[in-house]
Amino acid sequence: MNYKRNLITCALPYANGPVHIGHLAGVYVPADIYVRYLRMRGRETLFVCGSDEHGVPVTMAARKEGCTPQDIVDKYHGIIKKAFADFGIDFDIYSRTSSDIHSKNASQFFRKLYDEGKFIEKESEQFYDPEAKIFLADRYIVGTCPKCGAEGAYGDQCEKCGSTLSPEELINPHSKVSGAEPVKRKTKHWYLPLEQYEGWLREWILDGHKEWKTNVYGQVKSWLDGGLQPRAVSRDLDWGVPVPVEGADGKVLYVWFDAPIGYISNTIELLPNDWEKWWKSPETRMIHFIGKDNIVFHCIVFPSMLKAYGDGFILPDNVPANEFLNLEGDKISTSRNWAVWLHEYLEDFPGKQDTLRYVLTANAPETKDNDFTWKDFQARNNSELVAVFGNFVNRAVVLTHKYFGGAVPADAKPEQIDADTLAQIPALKESIENNIESFKFREALKEAMNLARLGNKYLTDTEPWAVAKSDLDRTASILYTSLQICADLAVAFAPFLPFSVKKLNHILNIEPMAWDDLGKTGLLKEGHTLNAAELLFAKVEDAEIQKQMDRLEAIKQARLAAEAAAAPKVAPAREECSFDQFSQMDIRTATVLEAERVPKTDKLLKLTIDTGLDKRVIVSGIAEYYKPEEMVGKQICILANLQPRTIRGIESKGMILMAKQLDGKMRIVTPEERLENGSTIG
Ligand code: 2FM
Ligand code: ZN
Repeated sequence: MNYKRNLITCALPYANGPVHIGHLAGVYVPADIYVRYLRMRGRETLFVCGSDEHGVPVTMAARKEGCTPQDIVDKYHGIIKKAFADFGIDFDIYSRTSSDIHSKNASQFFRKLYDEGKFIEKESEQFYDPEAKIFLADRYIVGTCPKCGAEGAYGDQCEKCGSTLSPEELINPHSKVSGAEPVKRKTKHWYLPLEQYEGWLREWILDGHKEWKTNVYGQVKSWLDGGLQPRAVSRDLDWGVPVPVEGADGKVLYVWFDAPIGYISNTIELLPNDWEKWWKSPETRMIHFIGKDNIVFHCIVFPSMLKAYGDGFILPDNVPANEFLNLEGDKISTSRNWAVWLHEYLEDFPGKQDTLRYVLTANAPETKDNDFTWKDFQARNNSELVAVFGNFVNRAVVLTHKYFGGAVPADAKPEQIDADTLAQIPALKESIENNIESFKFREALKEAMNLARLGNKYLTDTEPWAVAKSDLDRTASILYTSLQICADLAVAFAPFLPFSVKKLNHILNIEPMAWDDLGKTGLLKEGHTLNAAELLFAKVEDAEIQKQMDRLEAIKQARLAAEAAAAPKVAPAREECSFDQFSQMDIRTATVLEAERVPKTDKLLKLTIDTGLDKRVIVSGIAEYYKPEEMVGKQICILANLQPRTIRGIESKGMILMAKQLDGKMRIVTPEERLENGSTIG
């Protein structure tokens, strides 16, 4: 298929919190690289995104902060939009789903499907919070996990043991909103019968898009193999796009119904008269950049919505979803504050956007979850960006200023090594291209860095600073060749590191180039003057990294302390013992015949017991928990062969088995039913 234009969308981030490095690595940086590359190739491209401002989490955040949902989304839309702009994510439009245009568009979309009978209307029983007077999504019902006993398990999952749950299974279920016990209530909703689209989806994706990434294809296949069910497209909520039909008071479109329509709405907002060519022309190639948790919505639900709508809407040609990025070995989590927030990063590392873009691309979770560590961040900045790319450019430019007054010298005395070095560039270009076009951005970046390595090695091998002492003509050729490679780097890195390439273009005193300039001969002509040398990248110092590690460590410690405070204090496990050690213990049943306090003590009782073997005396520290008269007649368990000890002048022969509860209180251990004295236990 020969496409004329590219419509690139990025998942609309929820506007209930700021964005972090996981967002950037998984979705926005790869999409931005792709778009910059397409534009450099002169391909007509539209890059669309915006905030996803509906859904229950926004209403919850508003409740928590005591403000309106609109206040919440206004705040975070601003923060997110700025963060993307600060990192050079070059959207054509970044709008929002609370806009009027979106509300009208999503409403109209629903209405057409409704009018054409594409939905099923169904009444069902759902959990309702009688105090807050709202229906509760499973996630907002919490209780004790029936599988592991953890408190605070969600109605859909226990995060402690990972079990999938339903709200019915929770012990002591209560609403996360008001604490009330949820009750079931009848409610009506509209459903998209996804099962009707199953055959078509199989053909379109499983047969027609075998080239999709394996993680995406595999997830789609397993959804389809599991059988699709009707999906509710409305919710009982007072925040969202109202369901535009009679008798739907208090109901809004489900956030996952309206959000992807946001891609269309935002295009309409940007190009009110020209949007259809982007959405309804078979000559447009649409690509959705998303994270793995969005696969089902972008590969199954949204395409089914578009298919149901008809009217020429195109479908995605690819959905290059990424896996997740972890942080220092732990899952990134907004609620646990385990993240590197973009706006905070920029406060600590002003001007170092490209370092983060570089590290996140080099480590992108393209085929599996990956880890971001601050040590790796520092190492990649210092030993790759600074020591290879930056060092090469700096040496070439500084030496040109030193020996040739900052003007590109003539290729006065070429040698074979120059041609051999430059001859390697077309293959690198092709490899970068192929990798970008198949969404392998890590590999593409590696190849771009190989170009910088090529330059660095060339300079080290040719040593123009040494040659200059005897042969300025040869020095001229070496620097001429090096400067051509600098210009090539300004092309190769442009999709990846836009800020540094802008600086490099300034140093080289050139305008941004097209992709196909990469590898062309004579990019910088003899006599062209350079600007002064500047460092492209600055080192990241140990202290800066330590500060970040300390911040994370403090967060981790605070979390562990909170968890420890909330957790019951179960005594730590003891060391293993052997079976022989265990069998050496003579544990048996006995009955208390007499009990009296040991004079002048608070804790001790003197018990006379019948062990079946003998009658003997045991002194036990249970007076805090049992009165003497309570003990008489009780059957107990004792360790009968414990070496006798004399306590307060009384010989005690054995020990009573007691259970120490989590609150520290002790109770005797007694057989379930009365047994003969002397029954052995083990
Ligand atoms: O997972 C998320 O962050 C969603 N807000 C993505 C929505 S993508 C699209 F459909 F709008
Ligand atoms: Zn559990």
